[in-house]
Amino acid sequence: MKHLIDPMDLTKQETDEIISLAQDIIAHRERYQGSMSHRKLATLFYEPSTRTRLSFTSAMMELGGNVLGFSDAKNASVSKGETVQDTVRVVGCFAEVIAMRHYIEGAQLYASEVSRVPIINAGDGSHSHPTQTLTDLLTIKRELGHIDGITIGFCGDLKFGRTVHSLIKALSRYENINVILIAPDELKLPGYIKHDVCELTGIPFREVSIMEEVMPELDVLYMTRVQKERFLDEDEFDRVKDSFVLDAARMALAKEKMAVLHPLPRVNEILTEVDDDPRAAYFRQVENGKFVREALIVKLHEWKDDPAHGMPETDEPIYNPEYRCANPKCICNNEHAPYKFRRTPAGKIRCWYCDSKIK
Ligand code: CP
Repeated sequence: MKHLIDPMDLTKQETDEIISLAQDIIAHRERYQGSMSHRKLATLFYEPSTRTRLSFTSAMMELGGNVLGFSDAKNASVSKGETVQDTVRVVGCFAEVIAMRHYIEGAQLYASEVSRVPIINAGDGSHSHPTQTLTDLLTIKRELGHIDGITIGFCGDLKFGRTVHSLIKALSRYENINVILIAPDELKLPGYIKHDVCELTGIPFREVSIMEEVMPELDVLYMTRVQKERFLDEDEFDRVKDSFVLDAARMALAKEKMAVLHPLPRVNEILTEVDDDPRAAYFRQVENGKFVREALIVKLHEWKDDPAHGMPETDEPIYNPEYRCANPKCICNNEHAPYKFRRTPAGKIRCWYCDSKIK
């Protein structure tokens, strides 16, 4: 069975198949209406969402299917102490696929270990957001006509920005990608992406602190919000919250064909004066999210019982009673998930669920 927990759960070919199918759905929407009739998608959202949850809902409705679930875990038996594993065991009796968002990192991976239906990670804490990645890839393809060969600047909160982490992973499998990281020191990309993804795959990257310097080089500018809800220290948030603001003057430095992406919501990092610039692709990106999620639902259904489309093979997990995950927001420090670890190709030990270091 195929779950989508991390962008790398899809092969490059599967990723491209989903993007191609999304493009076909856009061109021939009527062909897919009814293709999921009598099927049900459950959306289990333990953390707020507008785009992801509603685009999943809209996608399933366009396909003729039905949607059930919760948008606030306080109204579910989670508030009585039900674990994510028990919750997906139960909801798997009512729906053929589950899209889950959780503020705890690794929650969906842990849930997938017992689920009898495919689990789609709709965002886990600061860790991963693979369906936003599919949205972003489709948007880049539609805006520029290609994904290979782009120079992409990621700007803002690269530390907590799960969409950034997932997109960099996915881009590492495309040709001639060049990454520029634009962030203050406090919000730099985590080591596991920089070292385990960029350095190991050889994707060239450089870190800068002045946006204007790199604007003329970019094919894609990927803006992000500084995520107040992830900070443990409010003073630190106040220090970095206005680090980078995209305005018309900065847009004037960019290529004529650059695309500005943002997973949204935005706060003040893109001024509304940019919205009418033809290069501002972030609202088109939102709509792409619905089409790509339609394609994902169709493909996961098609692949469900096909052994050629299972989960990627992994090494055996490492269990060592002396190891603990250093991340207080990891599932293994919040529910009774086992402390389990993996050795990266660079020889580091990282948490199985959230990629954090051991303590
Ligand atoms: N892009 C995104 O994940 O938006 P929501 O938080 O509104 O779902």
